[in-house]
Amino acid sequence: MVLGGCGACVVLLSKYDPVLDQVEDFTASSCLTLLCSVNGCSVTTSEGLGNSKDGFHPIHQRFSGFHASQCGFCTPGMCVSLFGALVKAEKKDQREPSPGFSKLTVVEAEKGYLRKSLSLYWISTHC
Ligand code: FES
Repeated sequence: MVLGGCGACVVLLSKYDPVLDQVEDFTASSCLTLLCSVNGCSVTTSEGLGNSKDGFHPIHQRFSGFHASQCGFCTPGMCVSLFGALVKAEKKDQREPSPGFSKLTVVEAEKGYLRKSLSLYWISTHC
């Protein structure tokens, strides 16, 4: 058994870096992250992106609309992982993409947790 290998608990951690004067975002498996290491971080879960009460995030809607989840256990982690990749991509210093597209490349979308799922690969290349 590989601990922390499924990625179902991925959250987005955001922390202000006063030296760079910017917010750094990174994803982490929450089950492997020590509480003391997230001091000063904002933690965004899948429910923080969207939920049944406040409305679902477009990533949730696409997962649902494209039937991208299988058993659904890992889907929250996939949604946060994709959201984190989009957040990072939008901060890249490159020209703006065409309307309706993001700066996230397929290669970037496939990194980490996203690579584990064939259905997510399909979503990341078609959405
Ligand atoms: S990586 Fe599987 S529950 Fe955290």
